[in-house]
Amino acid sequence: MITFKEDVFKIDTDSSSYVFGLNHGMLESMYYGKKIRDGSDYYALREKSSGGYPNTVLTENDDKTFVMDNLCLEYSFPGKGDFRNTAIEIRMPDSSFVCDFRYSSHKIYDGGYKIPGLPFAIKGDQTLEVNLIDLSGLELILYYTVFSKTDVIARSVCIKNGADKDIYIRKIMSMQLDLSDSFKLLTFNGLWARERHKDEKNLSYGEVVCSSVTGASSNRQSPFMVLADRECTQSSGCCIGYNLIYSSNHYESVQVSGYDKTRFMGGINPAFFEWRVGPNDTFFTPQAVISFSSCGLNGLSQNMHGFVRENIIRGEWAKKERPVLINNWEATYFNFDEKKLLEIAKVSKDLGIELLVLDDGWFGLRNDDTTSLGDWYENRKKLPGGLSSLAEKINEMGMMFGLWFEPEMVSPISDLYAIHPEWAVKVPSRKPSLGRNQLVLDLTRKDVRDYIVNAVSNILNSANIQYVKWDMNRHITDAYSQELGARQGEFYHRYILGLYDILERVCGAFPHVLFESCASGGDRFDLGMLCYMPQIWCSDNTDYYERVLIQEGTSYGFPLCTMGAHVSAVPNHQTMRTTPLESRFNVACFGLLGYELDPTKLSDNEKLAVKEQIKFYKKYRKLFQFGDFFRIKDGFESEHAVWEVVSADKKQSISGFFQKLFVPNPPSDKLFFKGLDEELFYKISCREQYLEFVPGRLSDDEGFLSNKEEYGGYGDLLMNGGIKLNQQYPSIRYNQGSRLMGDFGSRLYIARSEEEK
Ligand code: DGJ
Repeated sequence: MITFKEDVFKIDTDSSSYVFGLNHGMLESMYYGKKIRDGSDYYALREKSSGGYPNTVLTENDDKTFVMDNLCLEYSFPGKGDFRNTAIEIRMPDSSFVCDFRYSSHKIYDGGYKIPGLPFAIKGDQTLEVNLIDLSGLELILYYTVFSKTDVIARSVCIKNGADKDIYIRKIMSMQLDLSDSFKLLTFNGLWARERHKDEKNLSYGEVVCSSVTGASSNRQSPFMVLADRECTQSSGCCIGYNLIYSSNHYESVQVSGYDKTRFMGGINPAFFEWRVGPNDTFFTPQAVISFSSCGLNGLSQNMHGFVRENIIRGEWAKKERPVLINNWEATYFNFDEKKLLEIAKVSKDLGIELLVLDDGWFGLRNDDTTSLGDWYENRKKLPGGLSSLAEKINEMGMMFGLWFEPEMVSPISDLYAIHPEWAVKVPSRKPSLGRNQLVLDLTRKDVRDYIVNAVSNILNSANIQYVKWDMNRHITDAYSQELGARQGEFYHRYILGLYDILERVCGAFPHVLFESCASGGDRFDLGMLCYMPQIWCSDNTDYYERVLIQEGTSYGFPLCTMGAHVSAVPNHQTMRTTPLESRFNVACFGLLGYELDPTKLSDNEKLAVKEQIKFYKKYRKLFQFGDFFRIKDGFESEHAVWEVVSADKKQSISGFFQKLFVPNPPSDKLFFKGLDEELFYKISCREQYLEFVPGRLSDDEGFLSNKEEYGGYGDLLMNGGIKLNQQYPSIRYNQGSRLMGDFGSRLYIARSEEEK
């Protein structure tokens, strides 16, 4: 619900309010927090500066009480007395950087809005547009769309050049949020194979920047971040989450001023950015989203999860249960042929797997990563009957067939590069730098985009391909397009607009295909990609405990139905660590389960275990993929992590207890629950799993099935008192009652209410 009364805008969601008002024609930010009733005059929330401020500049010379430098603003600009980080930087028609945007009008309407060329959130409830104008003729429009149920507000900005000369935008944030409280900041950082690890710091005077310049949203710093009260925990306290619907270079800054004001802003990274806007032309920023929760970090994550499921992911697969897949990458790498794939498929089918994904190496002369990207035709040596015959055979076995592509790239050793060297991103006078032996195609060009759309579509039309893994494996360097001339500052943004154009066309033409986005694992895990593809490969790292951290970090901003999570072989290919097969499964089932190993190499006992795993996952698949997720114990901060996923009707939940290293003579473990119905009685059992005494092998002795654990209680007891779990092995005298977890051990606990059949 959006209202405008006595110069004050109030944006309400189900549980939050966002208030700002006119102040000398500027927009003064007044409140963002727990929902407040209508009716106050909101004077209490305004900045009081009756004495003015020493050593500063008066924006209006005749009013010493109006000083921008300590005012919370909806959107700041340089040149008139705000000396903090400003949201916009434009070379104006007069070549200066001075601007002064003041309110001119606004409108409120039902629904959301579309942003030309960019992905955007769907099914918005209501939108507010506020128009501001500068004397040069430039118009600045601020957009606010409400998503009431999930307490989300989407924001973006548009510049209209009403002057008669070109302007050059060097910085234009999608949103700014000025607050007058002290916060801690949570960001999610990493690199390849350790994406989205949580970092937490208290903010104090100065600026913290989170950004990427790789041409992707990146595995280095996720655009998702949280500003939280210092005392905020997983289950209590206030916090604000932010994310950006964008897949390229992003920038977020939090700056604490000398007057203790906290200024947050986010949008396209201004680094290397310069966009020309001609007379009567417009520029739209990507949409940013913010959400407020007074129920701690879990409350905030659930807002974000609901929003992603309802308002970001679209298309046929949005709410459909996703298939259990087998991917041949770590099983064979480039070394496979049709016979090998069919062997893998046959065993996989027996195990209960539903989809075979053929990864890299099926096209051109690609026997390693040095050639053939761009040559999207089957390698007939490996696949004599081509993809259509392979897909048919897989389908005959009763499985779906899926295929890997990396369409944005070209290998210098390829037919495509031989014909079109000018299609690769490179500065004409320089030798381009290679990443994984490959170059990036110049997606700013229409002919390149048409080529990609046709090449991928031809393959998808040539066989029954029901799933696509869309990969992207290098950062962009040598950023330059031969078609952009002097406008190279537009390159990165035009690249991603080009990618969105391709995805719009390809995903739109194949609505039944399930698309999974991937970028060297999780190098482009963002809301932009999720507008086209409902799921993303979380990370190439499938080590048990590394995955606990990666998936837990990811869960702060993204729901389980977006996270590709696979069980791989040991020793793990990324860490060389050996961990139990059951633990690898237990963590992977909090996401979209797949296997990334050679099933023909599993022992009979391992096959038995995997069969049981898949049976179990399918039984609870809806819960794992679409349930409400809670972090009960933080894996980054303790020796074990605990997660829980609860069904919408609260009648069942599954908790994962993930141990790192066994502590000799250990203290007792407690299992707490969240999200249950206080008044329902729940029976709790532990998923039976095989224990591995010999690393990498399962014993067939029945005594090595995990010990039975059964508990019970009403929801209030389970949520407030928790369960003191059976004692772990006390380092002497093993008996059947001991919970034998060992290093990297884990368990799943299923809670079912009496009413649940
Ligand atoms: C990187 C991906 O993350 C892997 O899963 C695999 O598809 C390789 N690329 C193939 O080159």
